Amino acid sequence: MMAEPLFDSAEFRQVCGHFPTGVTAVTAVTGAGEVAALTVNSFTSVSLRPPKVLFCVTSHSSSFPVLMAADRIAIHILSQNQEDVARRFATSGLSGAQRLDGVSWVPGPDAVPLLPGTPAILAGRRDEVITSGDHVIVLLDVDHVHLKPTGVPALSFYRGRFVAPSDAAPE
Ligand SMILES: Cc1cc2nc3c(=O)[nH]c(=O)nc-3n(C[C@H](O)[C@H](O)[C@H](O)COP(=O)(O)O)c2cc1C
Repeated sequence: MMAEPLFDSAEFRQVCGHFPTGVTAVTAVTGAGEVAALTVNSFTSVSLRPPKVLFCVTSHSSSFPVLMAADRIAIHILSQNQEDVARRFATSGLSGAQRLDGVSWVPGPDAVPLLPGTPAILAGRRDEVITSGDHVIVLLDVDHVHLKPTGVPALSFYRGRFVAPSDAAPE
């Protein structure tokens, strides 16, 4: 059995928040039309050959069952002019469909919602799913990538806030 940590979860969160990250918007739709649309900063690339990425999702979130049932998942790497999307997709109390309703999107392969104003998009199928604590690590086999430079630097998240990276040169 693990010993109780000498810190609480607020302190743990605060310490982890010192690691600056990018911000992504994850979307998915099931065959029955249920939509997931959530903001995720736990994204990272994993493997080049074959191309794999991962993100972590809390198993308590309303998006979780949709992500587990959808054929395809899309990950949008957001730019600074998409902070409204990041805030909307992180709003509790809104369903995935309601979150998506407020933004411009088009259906992609297997009907996965794609946000066209995004500079970089990856889409793929679920590979392994690893439960760890209260989160689930979702690995994706990437089969579509889309790059559309917008000239706007990436959106970042640091110490609990959306920030503009000070030295992020526009593309
Ligand atoms: C900057 C930012 C990053 C986030 N990253 C994650 C993440 O990596 N994994 C996750 O499960 N939720 C993350 N969230 C929270 C989700 O976007 C969403 O608010 C949460 O899943 C609650 O959704 P629910 O109402 O569907 O339960 C993040 C929120 C913000 C604002």
